[in-house]
Amino acid sequence: MHALVVYESLFGNTHAVADAVADGIRQADPDAEVTVVPAAAGAGDQVRTADLVVVGGPTHMWRTTSPRSRRMGLDGAARNTKRPGPAPPVEPGAPGPGVREWLASLPGATDGAMAAAFDTRLRSRVSGGAARSIARRLRRHGYVVVAPPTGFVVAGGEGPLAPGEIERARSWAASLVPFTAH
Ligand SMILES: Cc1cc2nc3c(=O)[nH]c(=O)nc-3n(C[C@H](O)[C@H](O)[C@H](O)COP(=O)(O)O)c2cc1C
Repeated sequence: MHALVVYESLFGNTHAVADAVADGIRQADPDAEVTVVPAAAGAGDQVRTADLVVVGGPTHMWRTTSPRSRRMGLDGAARNTKRPGPAPPVEPGAPGPGVREWLASLPGATDGAMAAAFDTRLRSRVSGGAARSIARRLRRHGYVVVAPPTGFVVAGGEGPLAPGEIERARSWAASLVPFTAH
């Protein structure tokens, strides 16, 4: 089984969830070939051969990021002098392109290809979530979306992830693997 995990991240939180998703897939299927790539690297050839594509990004303004929201996030972080500790390192792909652009350039799915979507978000009743629209776009490209879109919680805009979210991401990812057994 070949799984491709595609993520977008400004401050490393969604990247950490993507790595945990990859770990969870490997734990559930030790023979799986799992690749983790930033959305900024583009769709590439790997997506054509993947049996399972997992796509995740941060929630910005209730949905997937945009060039403007990414700029706002990066400018805001540069101006933030109130955080208790040091600034989190900014991810190399932070300015974009993000998952929205990645999805726009995605070729149609090969027959039977499976997918799942996740996001990171604040813990709030009004946080919205990018995963729903990621899942919708994956479906439009012909993917069979095998799990409900899922959000992983950050404690603040720059993180860190809330306690237990890495473990939750690992088990969520492991739960996707049985769907890929042909
Ligand atoms: C411009 C901007 C808008 C945001 N809007 C939302 C939002 O609507 N809902 C939410 O839950 N979190 C929102 N957040 C917080 C992000 O969810 C958080 O920054 C992200 O999960 C961190 O992940 P990352 O380190 O991978 O970028 C926003 C953050 C930024 C920078």
